[in-house]
Amino acid sequence: MFIRMLCSGIRRHLRVHNGFTAVPVRYYEDPHKGYRPYWNKGEGNYGSTLGKQSVVHVQRARESILSLVKTIPFTDKDSAFNIAEYGAADGSTSMAIFGELLMTLKDHHGPNTQFQIIYEDLELNDFKSLFKRISGIIPDPPSYLLEMDNVYVLASGTNFYKQCVPKISKDEFVNTNMSLCYRTMKEVRKPFDDKTSPVSRSGLTLLSAEAAVNPDVFYNIWREKKDKAGIDDREEFARMYVSAHRNWSNSTFMNGLSDSRSQEEKEQIVDGLYGDVKERLSRMNPKVFKDDGKMIYIVIRKE
Ligand SMILES: C[S@@+](CC[C@H](N)C(=O)[O-])C[C@H]1O[C@@H](n2cnc3c(N)ncnc32)[C@H](O)[C@@H]1O
Repeated sequence: MFIRMLCSGIRRHLRVHNGFTAVPVRYYEDPHKGYRPYWNKGEGNYGSTLGKQSVVHVQRARESILSLVKTIPFTDKDSAFNIAEYGAADGSTSMAIFGELLMTLKDHHGPNTQFQIIYEDLELNDFKSLFKRISGIIPDPPSYLLEMDNVYVLASGTNFYKQCVPKISKDEFVNTNMSLCYRTMKEVRKPFDDKTSPVSRSGLTLLSAEAAVNPDVFYNIWREKKDKAGIDDREEFARMYVSAHRNWSNSTFMNGLSDSRSQEEKEQIVDGLYGDVKERLSRMNPKVFKDDGKMIYIVIRKE
């Protein structure tokens, strides 16, 4: 029934072009009512109007972008460094900053580094102008692509509230989360203080509850090496920290990844994750990162 309705619906809204082509063009009853850029496609209208203002907005963030981009870990040099612009319009706003970004990254990671630039926008976006700008057909602002090797440009006509590029999937993202609950002293005491609670009624009584702060051993090892030997070994600090916490957290990430992936692929993703964390950590000041353990010790008696 549903299929019959669908077929008759399609027939009703099918217009066959009677000229040369035998390829039917399908039009749907409810034409897309969403956002679509005003003016003719392919004329670079965004960049010659609002884009001029947007370029000025980017300038304010220029220095931070160019310095922070160097802190993004890029460990697997055989793969491509991905840069995406979400809501790219005709690519005019980002043209200059992307050129500078690429120069900075090539300088930082080496001239043979490969880059994949993804321009993302809605399906009715003016991608024609985007490609005309990138290829230099619309020459202003000048396209970085004409000047650079190893840079590959792609476009994605996908709503950015959906997944636009392969990365782990949304389910995997959710499944690799872990829930932790740190209780306050009041919460820890509550089942004992409440004499009607199942805990109290089972004959358990609280003899003492004491809060304490235990020093971060990894921080202390780092500081001692620095104070005594004058070596600021942040790499070792990061390695110790990540090894310690990978010990208990590794399985959460492995188990949360989809079983459609091979074991090897899962290991590669999880290795990459911890590798990134380690690299980021090694660039942080251990004094700022250090994480003293706040513990509550309780002594309980069973009647
Ligand atoms: C004002 S333009 C910004 C263009 C450019 N990024 C800039 O900063 O000048 C906003 C762009 O976001 C796009 N956009 C809006 N909602 C979107 C969505 N849900 N998914 C993808 N793109 C979207 C529009 O199509 C439009 O091209």
